[in-house]
Amino acid sequence: MPPPNFTIEIGAPQAYARAKSLLNAGRHPVFIGPNMVARSARQGGLLFAVVRRGQIPRDAAVALVNVRTSTLLVLNVHPHFRGAGLGSKFLEFLRPNFARVLATTVPWFQQRDYAPLGEPRMGRSLLTQVMVRQELLGLAGRMAQHFGETCPCALP
Ligand SMILES: CC(C)(COP(=O)(O)OP(=O)(O)OC[C@H]1O[C@@H](n2cnc3c(N)ncnc32)[C@H](O)[C@@H]1OP(=O)(O)O)[C@@H](O)C(=O)NCCC(=O)NCCS
Repeated sequence: MPPPNFTIEIGAPQAYARAKSLLNAGRHPVFIGPNMVARSARQGGLLFAVVRRGQIPRDAAVALVNVRTSTLLVLNVHPHFRGAGLGSKFLEFLRPNFARVLATTVPWFQQRDYAPLGEPRMGRSLLTQVMVRQELLGLAGRMAQHFGETCPCALP
């Protein structure tokens, strides 16, 4: 089954209740507080994937992004919409350079061309892993070749 069509809406800093309702429905394993949501939203990094059935819009997924560092901080698809490719499409749309993810979802991101960067780290309660978009590793390699030495910014 193809993923449902969705539109993207950018959330306002006051949209905590809207984001929280999706995070609660999706049983997000880590508590996401209003300050974090507002901080992302102020940069334009609170995004909703909205699916329309007829005239009725329904929030299907939420993402928090640190826009300055191009880092995905949170991605949660409403359970009703999971397993249909919506999470993949949303990630494709966001295309962050980095993602800080729960260790349990590393395989999901790996299948979508992200690679672990460094070691997993203990977050407030769960193990987290920073992932990098695979194609950036190649870019770092090309830069190293260009400079004829190990590039100072080369990623491990
Ligand atoms: C991970 C998540 C975003 C995927 O969303 P989704 O819309 O179901 O994603 P897709 O439909 O594109 O992909 C589903 C596939 O990934 C697989 N999958 C789901 N979670 C996985 C995991 N942790 N590891 C590996 N594969 C996983 C599913 O089994 C499914 O496989 P299939 O296509 O072979 O049936 C969603 O399950 C979710 O919101 N989880 C809770 C929050 C979370 O962990 N967020 C990610 C880190 S912040």
